[in-house]
Amino acid sequence: MLRLSILVLSLSSLIWGKPLASTMKVLGRREALPAGFTLTEPASPDTILKLRIALAQSNPAGLEDALYDVSTPSSPNYGQFLTKEEAASFVVPSPETQATVNAWLAQHDIDATPLTPSGDWLSFQVPVSKANEIFEAEFNVYTHGDTGRQTIRTMSYSIPQELQGHLTVVYPTTTRALQSDNSAVASSCANEITPSCLQSLYGIPTTPATQSSNKIGVAGFDEQYADDQDLKTFLKTYRPDTSDTTTFTVQTLDGGSNSQQPSDAGTEASLDIQYTVGVATNVSTIFISAGEQNHDGDLEGFLDMANFLLNEDSLPQVFTTSYGPNENDIPLDLSINVCNAYAQLGARGVSVLFASGDGGVSGTQYDSSCSGEFIVPFPCGCPYHTSVGSTNGISPETAADFSSGGFSNYFARPSYQDTAVSAYLDFLGDKYKGLYNASGRGFPDISTQGVNFDVVIDTEVQQVSGTSASSPTFASVIALINDELIAAGKSPLGFLNPWLYSTASDALNDITEGDNPGCGTDGFSATTGWDPVTGWGTPNYAKLRAAAGL
Ligand SMILES: *[C@@H]1O[C@H](CO)[C@@H](O)[C@H](O)[C@H]1NC(C)=O
Ligand SMILES: *[C@@H]1O[C@H](CO)[C@@H](O)[C@H](O)[C@H]1NC(C)=O
Repeated sequence: MLRLSILVLSLSSLIWGKPLASTMKVLGRREALPAGFTLTEPASPDTILKLRIALAQSNPAGLEDALYDVSTPSSPNYGQFLTKEEAASFVVPSPETQATVNAWLAQHDIDATPLTPSGDWLSFQVPVSKANEIFEAEFNVYTHGDTGRQTIRTMSYSIPQELQGHLTVVYPTTTRALQSDNSAVASSCANEITPSCLQSLYGIPTTPATQSSNKIGVAGFDEQYADDQDLKTFLKTYRPDTSDTTTFTVQTLDGGSNSQQPSDAGTEASLDIQYTVGVATNVSTIFISAGEQNHDGDLEGFLDMANFLLNEDSLPQVFTTSYGPNENDIPLDLSINVCNAYAQLGARGVSVLFASGDGGVSGTQYDSSCSGEFIVPFPCGCPYHTSVGSTNGISPETAADFSSGGFSNYFARPSYQDTAVSAYLDFLGDKYKGLYNASGRGFPDISTQGVNFDVVIDTEVQQVSGTSASSPTFASVIALINDELIAAGKSPLGFLNPWLYSTASDALNDITEGDNPGCGTDGFSATTGWDPVTGWGTPNYAKLRAAAGL
């Protein structure tokens, strides 16, 4: 990674003659402690904080235009993806923003390192005493009652007036600590889903993919490890037709490791790897594992993962994540930033998929305390990714009741889903008025089976349910279509939604039964066409490949 010190030095002359004291403006404040936390003591002045700052991105609207330009089937530039540098160029902070922030860093003797190719995120380390001073903050130690977990945060922080509009987030500061794991719930029900169920249900081919450039990335967090021996047992049991050398590769960040101790195998990681490697036959699969040394605080590696990918020259064409916090746990500015990272990945030709969440209309996990407004998982609202919900049963295939869906409070409805979402809102009428945001981005976009997946975990077969099962399944479908596209000399699908909501919308099996209860309601109902429980429905491989021009 390039150090930013050169920029800092060359710009330090700008600070001559500037008054050192300036008016401070509050940038972040929370009124109450997050649930479960109590104030323990002021943080020790010498404790080193690893802070990150986000600089205003110069042209997010241009990035959005470029993303749609390469992702919309009717566009002349469809499939003409951007390079890393081209995608980054839209979010490079303006010279004025860079100069202003660098002058302020230099004034405080802070040496910052860029975290992204565009330099829109910088990181630096300062002692608590200095952080308190420069941000007019009071960093304290807070302790979580149940887990004893301690975290250093401040209830409020400020920046000098001249940084307003240039520096948009300081992190971690006021955000609440959160449980980031969307992890799948083990269950012992009798019915079970295996790769061959998915293949016969959705017409997914069993023949091996052939293109060495074709890859799936699978995100790993939370010390969840995927065990190669478990994968081998899984393939031997459920895919005896595959080569016995089939495996996956591992990339790590944030001190991530790749434990192959059988007892370290994680439910989520095992599910994600077994239903990519086991369904996307012979597609190279990379497990990208973020360790516990993430420096993005409450995002627990989410931001690091996005920035790690942005720094890669060559990216997997499909990237699937089955973890997530809730939207209202993350400040709006930070959400926009992470969402714009997904836009850059999309512009570079990556299909970014996330599990929609397992709490129906009550967020990532069922939340019995929700009795009012519906809770939206993150990044479901981000319009630049594909959100995957869950179904259950074969005839008929219906919505799984945990399948999170609804409408974002942070991100407005993108135009690609105007027709689909308006039709659903007409169907809904006045029901749930005030409990959801009718102008927000609707999710999920599509769905697949998500109940009772057979998974080998620490040598034993267990059954696992959740949208966590659906995102890897849909990722595999897209990777197999990409393989055929690449073999035919065509571009892979990239950001899917403009295609899914136009050319491909009737290439999915429409799910019209079931709902996603929560917050004291029955939740939304699945119905004809798009709905905020199952999206457009589940894959029909033959129709999807035709919609992809194959
Ligand atoms: C599997 O994919 C590789 C390229 O990644 C290809 O060389 C090989 O022929 C494929 N295997 C089969 C059995 O088709
Ligand atoms: C509803 O969504 C819009 C668009 O994203 C947003 O501007 C507005 O603040 C949201 N309203 C509420 C009450 O969250």
